[in-house]
Amino acid sequence: MLVIGSDHGGLELKEVIKELLVERQIAFTDLGTDNNASVDYPDFGEHVARAVATGTAQQGVLICGTGIGMSIVANKFPGVRAALVHDPFTAQMAKEHNNANIIVLGGRVLQPEAARAILATWLDTDFAGDRHQRRLDKIARIENEIRSGKF
Ligand code: RB5
Repeated sequence: MLVIGSDHGGLELKEVIKELLVERQIAFTDLGTDNNASVDYPDFGEHVARAVATGTAQQGVLICGTGIGMSIVANKFPGVRAALVHDPFTAQMAKEHNNANIIVLGGRVLQPEAARAILATWLDTDFAGDRHQRRLDKIARIENEIRSGKF
């Protein structure tokens, strides 16, 4: 299961991404926003990141104007590796090296075709494991220490 969310700044691009998901027959849930009214990106970032952090969803897509706010919010959640990417190369690396479970896009940054290419690359790329897994384990260790108050 994939969850997708945006604020008003990402709404238009979210519709483009949803079309791609439908074309590829990937099941998804849109957690909002669903209209152009100005909203606060942390609210929608929270919905998507919580779903991934709790295992309700395995992967997520977040879109705001730049992607910056959404990536800051999403990476507060344990186990979330949210990657703000700008092109197919960074999308490929985000999965291959970082095993990003949330991809973050800038609705005011990307043209529709670029966003489609980015998402397709992220979906089609596999995590490379090996030394990259060792690095993710280190991130998880840091996260656990911070959560248990060990700074
Ligand atoms: C909303 O105007 C804008 O600040 C938001 O979409 C995002 O770019 C925040 O990082």
